[in-house]
Amino acid sequence: MHNPVILTGDRPTGKLHIGHYVGSLRQRVEAQHHYRQFVMIADLQALTDNGHNPAKVTDHVLEVMADYLAAGLDPTKTTFCLQSALPALAELTTYYLNLVSVARLERNPTVKAEIQQKGFERSLPAGFLIYPVSQAADITAFRATHVPVGEDQLPMLEQTNEIVRRFNTLVGKEVLTECQPILSDTGRLPGIDGKAKMSKSLGNTIELGMSAEEIKQAVFAMYTDPNHLKVSDPGQVEGNTVFAYLDAFHPDKALVAEMKAHYQRGGLGDMRCKQVLNDCLQTLLAPMRERREAAIADKHQLLRLLQQGTEQARALTDEVLAEVKGAMGLDYFAGLN
Ligand code: TRP
Repeated sequence: MHNPVILTGDRPTGKLHIGHYVGSLRQRVEAQHHYRQFVMIADLQALTDNGHNPAKVTDHVLEVMADYLAAGLDPTKTTFCLQSALPALAELTTYYLNLVSVARLERNPTVKAEIQQKGFERSLPAGFLIYPVSQAADITAFRATHVPVGEDQLPMLEQTNEIVRRFNTLVGKEVLTECQPILSDTGRLPGIDGKAKMSKSLGNTIELGMSAEEIKQAVFAMYTDPNHLKVSDPGQVEGNTVFAYLDAFHPDKALVAEMKAHYQRGGLGDMRCKQVLNDCLQTLLAPMRERREAAIADKHQLLRLLQQGTEQARALTDEVLAEVKGAMGLDYFAGLN
């Protein structure tokens, strides 16, 4: 019934890394050829846990733009936009907040885990607790039908669809559009230290713009099987970061399968595996690094791209806001003209 529309977003709190690439950027590059696609820099959402340090957010907006171009997003196919420059999103959030209980917000498993991990306790910013509602505003304001996300974002989409159904029932018509996730076929990429998550704050990432030397260092420092001491020893593939990355990035799946079998039997050394991975990542990242350098060298052009996309997004999101207000009877002055 609805034309497919894709919306994704990223919090601009650091440069993007190869975890973002396998988890989402790669699919977006593919999707832009087939669908209407918006990619939003979610600076408002990033402020919900960086309210004390807005520069951390504002300093990364153009860095993330450069990463998008580096990854292969094409501004003639994908519309880039900036969350804080779309006032309709803030207004929609205000209305949706009345349709969601505090208890429901506190049950969101992703937010719950983040609150614990960040140790907020009583200093939990109110904006942080409600960011899933602001994300529902993002998704519905674009009439997004498909949202490519990692597993951790599924609760956000669930909460969005709850709001959509509640709102549509309330006003008695289909004003808002439900969305569905597009999940990456590769699971979450571990950090180079083998920790479950690749994250800037853990210092265990490989950024899209890293130099050849930095990539090599990261690969050769990578966590493998701690019990695989001699080349001839049988090694473990499960939980072995090098194999997790080979699975995610190496184009030759048969070769990876063969390497795994050899490693498990014994006789294949970590160094050799790391060389194969290094070659593969260097090949993948070299063109990205080049595009990134060219992009970040012209910040005016990056800003212009972001502004142009944001203007298109503004027209669309204002329209949805007007429909929402109209459906609620908040269009008091509509009859005056
Ligand atoms: N929550 C997402 C993240 O942390 C970012 C985001 C904000 C988003 N608004 C969005 C993703 C809308 C998809 C759709 O990665």
